[in-house]
Amino acid sequence: MDKMWSGRFSTGTSSLLDAFNASIMFDRKLYREDIEGSIAHATMLTKQNILTQEELTQITEGLAQVLKEIESGEFEWKISDEDLHMAIEKRLTTLIGDAGKKLHTARSRNDQVAVDFRRYVLRKNLEIVDALKLLMQEVLVVAQKHTETLLPGMTHLQHAQPINFGFHLGAYLSMFKRDIERFESSHKRNNISPLGCAALAGTPHNIDRDLTASLLGFDAPSVNCLDTVSDRDFALEILFNISTMMMHISRLSEELVMWSSYEFGFVELSDEYSTGSSIMPQKKNPDVPELLRGKTGRVYGSLMGLLTVMKGLPLAYNKDTQEDKEGVFDAVETAEISLEILKEAIKTMQVKAHNMAKASKIGHLSATDLADYLVQKCNIPFREAHFITGKAVAKSEELKIDLSEIELKYLQEIDARINADVLEFLVLENSMNARKSAGGTATVRTNEQLEYFKNFLGE
Ligand code: ARG
Repeated sequence: MDKMWSGRFSTGTSSLLDAFNASIMFDRKLYREDIEGSIAHATMLTKQNILTQEELTQITEGLAQVLKEIESGEFEWKISDEDLHMAIEKRLTTLIGDAGKKLHTARSRNDQVAVDFRRYVLRKNLEIVDALKLLMQEVLVVAQKHTETLLPGMTHLQHAQPINFGFHLGAYLSMFKRDIERFESSHKRNNISPLGCAALAGTPHNIDRDLTASLLGFDAPSVNCLDTVSDRDFALEILFNISTMMMHISRLSEELVMWSSYEFGFVELSDEYSTGSSIMPQKKNPDVPELLRGKTGRVYGSLMGLLTVMKGLPLAYNKDTQEDKEGVFDAVETAEISLEILKEAIKTMQVKAHNMAKASKIGHLSATDLADYLVQKCNIPFREAHFITGKAVAKSEELKIDLSEIELKYLQEIDARINADVLEFLVLENSMNARKSAGGTATVRTNEQLEYFKNFLGE
């Protein structure tokens, strides 16, 4: 019968219920947010003459002691205390007596957990943004070195047109920039304080919600208490944002896995970030990008899990909501380690530019350039130009060469309107550099794009 809410109960709870009902094993992660929330709440109650200055001093000193005990590992986390809110309040009351019992005036665990969890998510939004920027910086360093490194651009995983490797990495920089913006916009939208909403309907005490909001770094108090104690959109948003970010990471990882194979040979991951086989001594496996690809699935699982928890809940707080935390903690921790290890893998990988160039000579990547030449220089309608180019490709296949190496005489046999200046158009570097339209792959355009990301990171 040592429960804080035991007044109306005649027997204690079963230990089975204690184990089932408790969140203390995982919500203890929020101890900092919980203690800071309590200090802000007590400070406000004192300013409103609900607590005395003396009581406030006892509470803040007591909470400082609790914090110390938690951080040194002395604090006793007991399943029977149910959650961190009650464990901390109970310890505080043991330490300071009656003043501890007044702390929960004009507050409920419903607004308390909403404050703690929201502040954790808000903080993680910004920490993930910082980690994403560090990753972008490493990708940018590699990209800047390779704005002239030819690589086969693909569609349908088939060689399509020559691009440069910096341009290819620029695509991922674009994705990561959008990811950053998503975390930032979630942060902005959700930076409102639940504190003072109490159980669901507000409180008759003369509280000052503006004060607690500003003490805790929120932009403002929330508008509707009933919504605030049951809302978990902020948690869904970070799960969605992490899921989208991991989807981008997974796509890059998939390419790293392919590029590390003998068939591609475009990159070699460093020994430090590769693994071996227990049976095949020769093997060097890309476990890092494979795991990044795999971990994406588990993050999606957390998003689907919480969406499903929330879908049938009547207003306002329901205990189902306690299931919000573990998936978010797991997704956040997965995101953190993923960003860190991908950054290191990219920083230490070797780019095999010669293999990229060699691969660019397979598949007649400058075929579109021949067609464009026929249109621009010979005034041939595109459809006809497409057909003539098809013949040139077939001839190259017959000669077992790439179209970029074909001799002028073969082209002129196919169509007499073709002049010697055509050969320039077929050179792969020229083909890449010809794509100067806005956002295109030409080295000048790629450099501009990378400059844009550099400025973004420099803000
Ligand atoms: N441990 C609970 C949670 O994480 C805290 C809120 C409990 N509120 C209540 N009325 N039982 O959701």
